[in-house]
Formats: sequence, C-alpha cells, structure tokens
Amino acid sequence: MTNAEKSLVKGSYSVSDDREVRVSKIKDGTVIDHISGGYALDVVKILGITGHEKQVMTIAVNVPSKRMRVKDLVKIEGRALNRQEVNRIALFAPRATINIIRDYVVVEKLEVKLPEIIEDIIKCVNPMCVSNAHEPVAPKFYVENEEPLLLKCHYCGYILEKADVLRQF
Ligand code: CTP
Ligand code: ZN
Repeated sequence: MTNAEKSLVKGSYSVSDDREVRVSKIKDGTVIDHISGGYALDVVKILGITGHEKQVMTIAVNVPSKRMRVKDLVKIEGRALNRQEVNRIALFAPRATINIIRDYVVVEKLEVKLPEIIEDIIKCVNPMCVSNAHEPVAPKFYVENEEPLLLKCHYCGYILEKADVLRQF
C-alpha cells in the first residue's frame, strides 16, 4: 500500500490512537458521558425516552474508556435537560458528565451529584409507610450506597434498591 492509500484508510475508518470508541459528534443537544458500564438503558428510561421520539439518539454501552475502563454514553440531538432530569440521572449514574452542545461545541459541562438526602423524587415502596398514608408526608431517603443504589426511608427504614426506584419511572 502506498502512503497515500494508507492515509486514506486511516481517514475513512477514523482510527483512534487512544483506544476510545468514537461515535459521531452531534450538532445541538445533550451528551451524557461517563455513565457506568451497563447503565445507559436505565438512564434512558428515567428520562422517559421510548425511542418513538423523532430525535436522533446514540446509545453506547460498555465502550472502552481511559478514565473508567468501560463506560456508557447517551447522545440526544435537539434536547436540553432540566434540573429535575439531571437529578434523576444522578440516581443511576452518579459519575456522569452532562455536556450541552451548541453548534458542535461543548458550551456547558455539568457534573451530576447524588445528594446525601433524596426528597420528593421517589416514593417509599412499603405500603405501611407513613409517607404512603392519607396524611401527606413528603418522602425522604438517605443514600446508603451509590453504586449499586441503596436508599433508606427516613420514616420506616425500608431499603429501596435500584429496581424499586426504576419501577417508578
Ligand atoms: N461531543 C459530541 N458532539 C460534539 C461535541 C462533543 O458528541 N459536537 C461528545 C464527545 O464525544 C464526548 C463529550 O461530548 O463524549 C464531551 O466532549 P469533550 O468535552 O470534547 O470531551 P472530553 O474532553 O473527553 O470530555 P471529558 O473531559 O468530560 O472526558
Ligand atoms: Zn418508608
């Protein structure tokens, strides 16, 4: 192969030297990066994304990453995330970075953070819990563990797992 041919091959396959998998850049929208390997579909679910939307979306699962060995990422064209959505993502991807893209440029980078106390987003799954009684008492949970997610109810001590939380979205 001539040198010219070699560079042609390199160009067309976009060979990367750093072993990062490259998926297409987006023009406008949101890139949720550094999701722990295997969690992208949970993130998509809590955002209420079904796939029937008209937006272009890329979901990459278990791709090699320098920082995390493997990671997932979700790219959504033409959609920004609000504060509540960012907080929900923290439940399943506490190490995620949210990149806001405008005209191909990263204009904002938000690190998600799981607070120590979670209020209002989710309900206790114990039917006997006072937070599920007729008197309105706002649900409140302590984060016992980030990954895998374990939340302890302030009122009844019930431990919610990831699946208990996912079912609520
Ligand atoms: N990205 C994209 N489309 C763009 C710009 C960026 O899809 N037009 C994606 C990149 O592929 C990357 C993420 O958004 O997954 C963040 O981009 P950038 O900040 O350029 O990458 P890094 O420097 O590697 O980010 P970090 O420091 O957060 O690892
Ligand atoms: Zn409870």
